[in-house]
Amino acid sequence: MLPRAALIHIVIIMALEELAEELKQAERAALATIAAAAGIAAIERARPVAMGKNSAMRGLLKRLGGLPAAERPQAGQIINQAQARVESAFEAKLAELREAEMARQIETQSVDVTLPGTHAKPGGLHPLTLTLIEIERIFTSMGYEIASGPDVETEHNNFDALNIKPDHPARDMHDTFYLDGGRILRTHTSPVQIRHMLAHKPPLAIIAPGRVYRVDDIDATHSPVFLQVEGLLIDRGVSMAQLKGTLTEFLHAIFGKELATRFRASYFPFTEPSAEVDVQCFVCRGPDPDCRICKGTGWLEVLGSGLVHPDVLRNVGIDPREFSGFAFGMGVERITMLRYGIPSIRLFYENDIRFLRQFA
Ligand code: PHE
Repeated sequence: MLPRAALIHIVIIMALEELAEELKQAERAALATIAAAAGIAAIERARPVAMGKNSAMRGLLKRLGGLPAAERPQAGQIINQAQARVESAFEAKLAELREAEMARQIETQSVDVTLPGTHAKPGGLHPLTLTLIEIERIFTSMGYEIASGPDVETEHNNFDALNIKPDHPARDMHDTFYLDGGRILRTHTSPVQIRHMLAHKPPLAIIAPGRVYRVDDIDATHSPVFLQVEGLLIDRGVSMAQLKGTLTEFLHAIFGKELATRFRASYFPFTEPSAEVDVQCFVCRGPDPDCRICKGTGWLEVLGSGLVHPDVLRNVGIDPREFSGFAFGMGVERITMLRYGIPSIRLFYENDIRFLRQFA
């Protein structure tokens, strides 16, 4: 009689051998299925059979539990090795079939490389953006910095600090959009002057582009939302001469010398003295009583300007005996209309592609 230990050993060897035999068969079957697959669809169908959860090989793994612990690692290893061989055979076959499929497509389908392609039309910048970029370029080349402020403003910054008293017509409900909580939509970019002077010590020179809002009916030259660029320069000994020189330089740079410009005495509560700048009407180029664009005057107003009022300087803690400065504000839509001969402000907001394409 064999000792008990030896007996167990023999049984284990047999169990291992049996498992190895079954494994060999399962591997052979899986490899055969893979080899027989005649197309991509067929090999995809063979995937679960060859290596899926319910494949014969995986079934063998489940039987490892029946072996004594000492034998399990070896048995597990030979099953995993077989599984790896099946998997790489599968991948190789799949790649081979894909290549064949590609070769077949190339052979049967022809591409006519001489056919016209579908080419993407490049976009372009909006004409208002083009003008803004140009305005910024001109002023930054003169040493101005670009500043900004919020569209939603306090009445203080938009009006009081700029010397616009509560009874000023600009405060009329018909001009200003009032919001909850006593805020308003800024009616001009001038509050950026206030914000900037409160935050920075002079000397300073900025422009501040941005949207402004006024209760206004839309016509060829008006819109309730439009763009302004504010300008502010504060230094010692600034006079009207520098204001005029700077703006003339700007006007020539932006319009060329073709359109005449004129400075006209005017009034703003926050500048003293004040001047407005008109540009010759690009439509009629002279007083034509029937011109819709300039309303028969021959001129279009594009800029308000003046020397910063001493009260405004005092409001932001700058001593007007030491510093003076000039400020200006321009309408970007108007300037763009003049630059390109655009007859209606509406064209900027309708975004008709036939209009926009002309600026690409
Ligand atoms: N804020 C004025 C307006 O909107 C323009 C302006 C700006 C005038 C700065 C003078 C100085 O009409």
